[in-house]
Amino acid sequence: MKITVIGAGNVGATCANVIAHKALANQIVLVDIKEGLAEGKALDMWQTASVNIFDTRIIGVTNDYLATKDSEIVVITSGIPRKPGMSRDDLISTNAKIVKEVTEKVIRYSPDAVIIVVSNPLDVMTYAAYLAAKMHHSKVFGMAGILDAARYKSFIAEALNTSPRDVQALLLGGHGDTMVPLPRYTSVSGIPVSQLLDQEEIDRIVQKTRQGGGDLVKLIGTSAWYAPGAAAALMVEAIAHDQHRIFSICAYVSGEYGIRDLYLGVPVKLGRAGVEQVVEIELDDNEKQLLHDSACSVRRLKKILDDTNLF
Ligand code: LAC
Repeated sequence: MKITVIGAGNVGATCANVIAHKALANQIVLVDIKEGLAEGKALDMWQTASVNIFDTRIIGVTNDYLATKDSEIVVITSGIPRKPGMSRDDLISTNAKIVKEVTEKVIRYSPDAVIIVVSNPLDVMTYAAYLAAKMHHSKVFGMAGILDAARYKSFIAEALNTSPRDVQALLLGGHGDTMVPLPRYTSVSGIPVSQLLDQEEIDRIVQKTRQGGGDLVKLIGTSAWYAPGAAAALMVEAIAHDQHRIFSICAYVSGEYGIRDLYLGVPVKLGRAGVEQVVEIELDDNEKQLLHDSACSVRRLKKILDDTNLF
């Protein structure tokens, strides 16, 4: 299995590193536009192989897409990250150009690849990659639900002083302030979270999850990378090992949840072929409303993408 990660910044490098540690591929190609960056980070990671005990050959290249030829999975992290005070929306036009160019180059050399987009603003950049790739939407999708759910789970585990491993949770909607964590679909080893935490605490955690990415930007001065990189690698694992896992990702909806022609966070079954199925769950009126509000906000961003006339 050959896997390419585009962008050797913090998220791309972390993702490549986790993929290597999980032994998901025999080769990882890390690509960046900055001369020497991918080469250097790949070399540094490769030199941990005997220490961390993995065999995956990691190579880095500067803008050399020929080296990515015949990759089976490609993770796109390219784009400028958020600065403090900057919303994900501010990034649209700059990052859409970058994502378009990168996706076209990726597809030229790996026409059968499954593409995972991580660039922000996520839901719209995933749509941009889909338009640029001209592939079926089951093979182009984005990472965010796993990251947002992971943050949500970490806050619940913290509140309960329990292991995040035992927290099961689902989250829908766009990767932004309108995301929809679902307490009714949240449990700790099967125990509904409503039996363990009071409503006020749950509401506080939901809010903290929504602003989870932004809070990290304030603390670090740029976007987070450990959790985003690891979350993307988990999607790579589900695909590489054809696990048919169910979790929320940024997927194309064509009528599911009453939403059409949009990419946003919904539960899917993920395997070697990509998105095998969008899983529809029952929502109450309030949850439906929140999801539709989130879809409206993603559609508003999508309109900004449409207005760029890039596609
Ligand atoms: C975050 C960025 C990656 O949520 O969107 O941290």
